Amino acid sequence: MSSIHVQAPRIVHLKQTSHPKNHASKEPRMTQRRILVTSALPYANGPIHLGHLVEYIQTDIWVRFQRLQGNDCRYFCADDTHGTAIMISAQKNGISEAEWIARVSEEHQRDFAGFGVEFDHYGSTNSDENKQLCGEFWKSLREADLVVESDVEQLFDVEANTFLADRFVKGTCPKCGRLDQAGDNCECGHTYAPTDLIDPISVHTGSKPEVRTAKHLFVRLEELHEFLEEWSQSGDHLQSETANYLKGHFLNDELRDWDISRPGPYFGFEIPDSPGNFWYVWFDAPIGYIAATKQWCDNTGEDFEKWWKNETTEIHHFIGKDITYFHTLFWPGMLKVANFNLPTKVHIHGFLTVDGKKMAKRDGTFIKGETFLKYLDPEFLRYYYASKLGPKLDDIDLNFEEFIAKVNSDLVGKVVNLASRSAKFLQATGLSKEYPDDGGLFEMAANAGKDIAAAYENCDYNKAMRLILELADRANPFVENAEPWNLKKDVTKADELQDVCTVAVNLFRQIVIFLSPVLPKLAEKAGELFGEPLNSWDQSQTPLVGVPINKFKHMLKRADPKDIEKMTDETKTEFDAANAAEINEDAPAATSGDTDANLLAEPLADEITIEDFVKIDLRIARIVQAEEVAEARKLLKLTVSMGGDNTRQVFAGIKKAYDPAKLVGRLVVIVANLKPRQMKFGLSEGMIAAAGPGGEDVFILSPDDGAEPGQRVH
Ligand code: 2FM
Ligand code: ZN
Repeated sequence: MSSIHVQAPRIVHLKQTSHPKNHASKEPRMTQRRILVTSALPYANGPIHLGHLVEYIQTDIWVRFQRLQGNDCRYFCADDTHGTAIMISAQKNGISEAEWIARVSEEHQRDFAGFGVEFDHYGSTNSDENKQLCGEFWKSLREADLVVESDVEQLFDVEANTFLADRFVKGTCPKCGRLDQAGDNCECGHTYAPTDLIDPISVHTGSKPEVRTAKHLFVRLEELHEFLEEWSQSGDHLQSETANYLKGHFLNDELRDWDISRPGPYFGFEIPDSPGNFWYVWFDAPIGYIAATKQWCDNTGEDFEKWWKNETTEIHHFIGKDITYFHTLFWPGMLKVANFNLPTKVHIHGFLTVDGKKMAKRDGTFIKGETFLKYLDPEFLRYYYASKLGPKLDDIDLNFEEFIAKVNSDLVGKVVNLASRSAKFLQATGLSKEYPDDGGLFEMAANAGKDIAAAYENCDYNKAMRLILELADRANPFVENAEPWNLKKDVTKADELQDVCTVAVNLFRQIVIFLSPVLPKLAEKAGELFGEPLNSWDQSQTPLVGVPINKFKHMLKRADPKDIEKMTDETKTEFDAANAAEINEDAPAATSGDTDANLLAEPLADEITIEDFVKIDLRIARIVQAEEVAEARKLLKLTVSMGGDNTRQVFAGIKKAYDPAKLVGRLVVIVANLKPRQMKFGLSEGMIAAAGPGGEDVFILSPDDGAEPGQRVH
């Protein structure tokens, strides 16, 4: 961090004749811009973590900056709720998709609010508005004759009853033979279709998927080639790296048809003119930006057309570099065809690494927003990210030592300190009536506002933070040299004390205005000190004089490395617990307390051959009815189903161990080819497999999740 050492003059009792605001360059006010801003819609499939927050904090800062400038800037987001991953998460949690996405939406919104990320509206892609807008886009694509049909071979997970997207398949690379490779590419650099993998397995269930053919619908993107070339390569719609990347990787060739449908079962919107097929999640997700706006317009009475069908409205999308393709080719193409505003700019950022490495749960660096908030002030992260974010696509690294040093030295040491050392001396007197001579500090900072604003506008927050901190580096020596704490001891220097402190708190106020897009909470507290909210960039051009000042209240605590440790420890513990649960589910480890008592009580039976064993037909069955046999001490009468009409009645000696009501619905293993036996209470057509000596100690065998009635046990 560069610091400029300006020797601040000792304060003199020479009141400035002209107001510094007259010196500050006064630009004519630009007309108010109407700006619609979005961040990528997070998948409703997991918690918000520090990686996500790079983007939401980056966007929120930009939005707050625009508002501070007086622009009409609105920020929209929503949960991205469709697709197979969400179906499977809901299934695993035993709830409906609707319940699952409602739960996740609440958590996401809670976490965003925790970090001061404020949306004008937060929607969901699973909304009526989105469905209707998807229909509109679809109609336009059909009318433009851009939709074609084609058969696609895809892997299907029979257990999960779903087609598998590339990332949900793993297997052996068909080129080099490496095990456990992703569905579409191998570490060796080879790319392939998941159907080419050797021994593919489904990431969802671990089962071997089968190849199925289904009809898919495609958008003929090549028809929009000329438009996309023009849009992406001219104007300022994209950072230059992105424009070049598109040119080199896509636009020099024919654009491939885009597969925008998935056969059911699929959690999403069914395509109205193609029953059984659903829009692929990436078709309806960006339309969710518009749907969120629509909901906001309906809630507030705003004119929807003004926001999405009016050339004077700017549309700014903030996204990560992994989803460039969707936002810079498909999306402008779709908007063009459906006649909506095109993006003014797609702002793309890099990924987050932690201590130079990819975030990893096992290292404790895959930190959830929720966990961060338990231990640390969210403004620390906002400031740290701001200080790292530039206008390019470089990854940013979170280094905790640097994090602590920056927050403590910049924010506490240089910014808040300005006020904490001077505001208290103004309690009795208020601010001087006229702004004192400060050697030009206020004016210099007011003039720096222009460069700071340009840096914010350009998403060069790193530069903005540097410029602001340089102002603090100039202001602090002024206070140190003037020593208000010593002036306080000399009653004859009361006026000088008031002037010194008036300068100090005004320089503080100016810096806080510049920082307010990044640190809204600090700005709010500073606003309370001055008795008026800091909510306009213009306030940085004029010092405050002749008014009382409120009691200085604590504004920011120092960051403590111990809190970082607690946060990463909690993250690691969570990982260990989740891992242990997984191990338990999959393969219960032998406990060292197991003895041979059971074997002694019931020694092993005589050896049999495999031929003997296969004579016993063990099947998975579901208990569909269970009732007590009143006259029998031990028996329950069960009706079990092996699927379809194949039900049968079984009497089982488990009355003391099981409540019949709790058995209904559960899967069991039955001996299905046991000769039926006529009992006193009826015919028993099989046997339920169970362990244990009897009485209360009977334990029915349960198959693992995924097994289905009728399957044979081998
Ligand atoms: O990559 C993602 O996390 C997606 N859920 C982003 C969607 S952005 C937009 F298109 F909806
Ligand atoms: Zn390979």
